[in-house]
Amino acid sequence: MHTHDNPTHTRRDFLKTTAAGIAAGSVIGMAGTARGGFAGDGAFGLEKRRLGKTGMEVSVLGFGGAEIGYGRVEQERVSELLNTALDQGLDAVDTAECYVESETLIGNAIGHRRDDYSLFTKVGHWPSGKDGWSAEGITRSIERSLERLKTDHIDLVHLHSCGIDVLKEGDAIEALEKARDAGKTRFIGYSGDAAPARFAVETGRFDTLMTSLSIFDQESIDLTLPLCREQDMGVIVKRGIGNAVWRYDEFPTNGYYQEYWRRMQKLDYDFMRPANRDNTGPDGPAGIALRFVLSQHGVHTNVVGTTNPKRFAQNAELLKAGPLDAEQVEAIRTRWKDVAEEGWVGQI
Ligand SMILES: NC(=O)c1ccc[n+]([C@@H]2O[C@H](COP(=O)([O-])OP(=O)(O)OC[C@H]3O[C@@H](n4cnc5c(N)ncnc54)[C@H](OP(=O)(O)O)[C@@H]3O)[C@@H](O)[C@H]2O)c1
Repeated sequence: MHTHDNPTHTRRDFLKTTAAGIAAGSVIGMAGTARGGFAGDGAFGLEKRRLGKTGMEVSVLGFGGAEIGYGRVEQERVSELLNTALDQGLDAVDTAECYVESETLIGNAIGHRRDDYSLFTKVGHWPSGKDGWSAEGITRSIERSLERLKTDHIDLVHLHSCGIDVLKEGDAIEALEKARDAGKTRFIGYSGDAAPARFAVETGRFDTLMTSLSIFDQESIDLTLPLCREQDMGVIVKRGIGNAVWRYDEFPTNGYYQEYWRRMQKLDYDFMRPANRDNTGPDGPAGIALRFVLSQHGVHTNVVGTTNPKRFAQNAELLKAGPLDAEQVEAIRTRWKDVAEEGWVGQI
């Protein structure tokens, strides 16, 4: 499924299905049984990495704000989730104007302790529509984000997965550069995948790249990471736990999860086979998925989406085992190279 031509499609699917799941008392809860219970505790001591030329120091585990927005999670739960995670070592929070109420939820939850975290948001995506890519549209979007996030500056604003045409045209990048000059944001980046991500990196105008990278999505490892390293760009991984699709015994009805679920069947990693799926330790599916991402040279943090107030501590605990050893990484890379189809490009 090529999603990069029409990112709103998969996100709308996500919204439709996940909202129902939340209402039913389960975050996912549609097709198949969602697994994932874990009894971790304490999560201090996360490794920190320098986010490329931005010089920001960030923990290897960040927070992705899409799921709280699309899942329409209530304020009280988001406040508990984020304040607890900040107390446990979270220091980077990612959101976007288009994630429904995500920015407002985050601003209300932790706007009062703004010095405790680096804040990333994105501009130019649905629901702003086409207008979202104009210089004026981007400038207005940043102003709205500042207000909702209850802050006078954002640390990093990403262009939200625009195509090569928008990047070539140049207005969008220029608007971000102006916002950086005006102090509205300290740094600017591109968030996206496949050919547009490569093009964005090649422009040399961005401080960071946010891109998909996981055991189910390995295109970026060769396509963009080497160039990012050359340019000392910060690299933030999204979808790094691959939406934890092993939680589904059956094809998920949520369109946003389907491509990774399909890939999982074909990849057939041993650590993801049914007998191993309930292993919530560092050598189980979640542990290996998270540790694989952090084994990649040039990756600095992984913003994992969650609606579960216990999840940050659990994932931080898994990461205490550190990156995978070279042999494990090689086995996952080899398996991917052996079975990946031509269409297995980076998923927005
Ligand atoms: N184009 C773009 O710029 C773009 C696109 C996609 C995403 N993003 C950003 O990247 C972030 C991450 O992407 P994502 O949220 O789509 O996907 P993700 O982080 O790959 O997956 C999130 C899902 O994984 C589950 N999960 C997390 N840890 C788990 C564990 N240890 N065991 C079992 N399940 C676990 C969460 O469930 P629980 O709720 O139960 O924890 C949630 O449903 C987004 O939130 C967003 O900030 C950006």
